[in-house]
Amino acid sequence: MRPVIVAGNWKMHTTPADAGELARTIGARTRVDGVTRVLCPPFVCLAAVRDALADPGVAAPDGSGVAVGAQNVHRERQGAYTGEVAASMLEGLATWVIVGHSERRQQFGETDEVVAAKLTRVIEAGLRPILCVGEQLEAREAGADVAATIVVDQVVNALRPNAGDALWSSGLVIAYEPVWAIGTGRNASGADAAAMADTIRRALRTVAGSVAGLGNGEDLTVLYGGSVSSSNIDEFMAEQAIDGALVGGASLKPDEMAAIVARAGLTARARAAATTA
Ligand code: 13P
Repeated sequence: MRPVIVAGNWKMHTTPADAGELARTIGARTRVDGVTRVLCPPFVCLAAVRDALADPGVAAPDGSGVAVGAQNVHRERQGAYTGEVAASMLEGLATWVIVGHSERRQQFGETDEVVAAKLTRVIEAGLRPILCVGEQLEAREAGADVAATIVVDQVVNALRPNAGDALWSSGLVIAYEPVWAIGTGRNASGADAAAMADTIRRALRTVAGSVAGLGNGEDLTVLYGGSVSSSNIDEFMAEQAIDGALVGGASLKPDEMAAIVARAGLTARARAAATTA
């Protein structure tokens, strides 16, 4: 049974003074069994969020807490990279990391090669990667096949150099985030997102077929991201192929997160019931 995950990407919002309180509020309002919750604040807010989430009031009835994730790391282990943060520096601060977000690919020139190197550092550091992939609007408008080809290339180019036991045991999650859906209020349809999730799992099998030890694509957790909100989460969680959401703007709003995690909890319960039946 694949896990159900709701991760919030706070992007460049919040300060160390207010992030802890926001995290605690979201944690307390999303106490739903069976949903893995992750909050990814800016680097400078990681410690405040970690401390706030140590509050027992954020634990779900099943005892699970809210994990902390970073939004990025540098591709090198250390060195003369002014202003950058290495994966190993996150020890004690975060357990998850977003890698290859489209805003980093577009605004900071992160190529597939850079994304693959970052993934290597994240795995080495024992952190859990959320690898983001997704096509631009022109590709989607050119047709589902064109979009799929681009996404498969992103997946294969990030995973092939990392293929092996360490990658599979890292708990890799892939987030399908079509670029045209991010921050636009225009989301992919549940059916299109599910079709891409299946495509991503097939792509993983391609990589696994060439390199032993990567595991079976069916076990790969795939999230959808791009204008997810309380009003469309149902469409995604109703799809078997989708295991949760990577939420941007709505993840800064406790009401929205409460509704999104509550809906994800229904899927988690249904999957658990189907497994024990
Ligand atoms: P929005 O939910 O604001 O569209 O952002 C999605 C995203 O980029 C999450 O990583």
